[in-house]
Amino acid sequence: AQTERELLYKIHEVANTFFQEILWENEEGKAIGLSYFKERELHDDIIKKFQLGYSPEQKDAFTKYALEKGYEKEILEKSGISIFPENTPTGVDRFRERVIFPIHSFSGRVLGFGARILKSNVKTAKYLNSPETEIYHKSNVLYGLNQSKQAITKENLCLLVEGYMDVISLHQSGIENVVASSGTALTTEQIKLIKRLTENVTILFDGDAAGIKASFRSIDMLLAEGMNIRVALFPDGDDPDSFARKHPRDFVENFIKTEAKDFIDFKAEILLKEAQNDPIKKAEAIRDIVKSIGFVSNALKQEIFIKEISTNFELSEQSLFNELGVQKQIVQ
Ligand code: CTP
Ligand code: MN
Ligand code: MN
Ligand code: MN
Ligand code: MN
Repeated sequence: AQTERELLYKIHEVANTFFQEILWENEEGKAIGLSYFKERELHDDIIKKFQLGYSPEQKDAFTKYALEKGYEKEILEKSGISIFPENTPTGVDRFRERVIFPIHSFSGRVLGFGARILKSNVKTAKYLNSPETEIYHKSNVLYGLNQSKQAITKENLCLLVEGYMDVISLHQSGIENVVASSGTALTTEQIKLIKRLTENVTILFDGDAAGIKASFRSIDMLLAEGMNIRVALFPDGDDPDSFARKHPRDFVENFIKTEAKDFIDFKAEILLKEAQNDPIKKAEAIRDIVKSIGFVSNALKQEIFIKEISTNFELSEQSLFNELGVQKQIVQ
């Protein structure tokens, strides 16, 4: 007998095929879904590579199809793809009138879906994602890992972006060593997935306040796992997707190479700009950087980082090590 997990994988495969068929074959799918991706300048081959799809306006298009194919209400509900509101005999689709981004496991099985609304002025959330299920645990998955794993190994570097479209656009421009945290705070499990392929990560988050905040959190998480990190911010208003569409591949690659700073320089640049010439704020900025060094487990690396700050800011190593001692007590 099929286990429940196997059945959930199967339903996701069926749904994934369904959403793609709608995108490519159905009138509504072509007129709305495919047109949307074309507006975002995605080419057919890349739409197919990421198995993008479309879920129509009809409220039960997939649910009805799956029930007719013999899948039971219970398992459809557990998959998160269908919802059966109380006191209603027939179920409805979770994702309606949205373009679909299937989320794959490391080995390429579909675990869940992200679904984007087409108009950005509507009040509902821009992206709807699968809920946690028996096979989909958001914090254990990195979007794009399956499509990018070979390039990550080859380049010995993983680019980390925020969103689905960032991964896809970079692939389209030929930069294939990239995964997305999908807008959530990076987790230890996600970092361990990267670590199977490389210890080198370049964070490429959106150049807005949210992106900076997320990059600060991710730096500490990555340092704690012993990763080598660099960070490059895109100009405010741009994300890797918009940037990759504005500029040719060589320019993007060059931008990433030249903009990428080590985490000390990156944090210093942002925090010291905020501090202006206020000595109290300056001290807070240094403490914040030392706090990140507190997450580094390797003592030799810590010493090298402390020496870097000591040189850059003309501070004694002794006072920096003292501060590190204080911070480490807080971290532990
Ligand atoms: N996200 C989400 N739910 C939201 C907003 C964002 O799950 N309501 C996740 C998505 O994975 C999204 C990522 O966070 O791709 C980054 O968010 P954002 O920068 O807002 O989205 P973009 O990918 O830039 O979206 P787009 O370019 O399609 O507007
Ligand atoms: Mn963002
Ligand atoms: Mn954003
Ligand atoms: Mn974005
Ligand atoms: Mn975007």
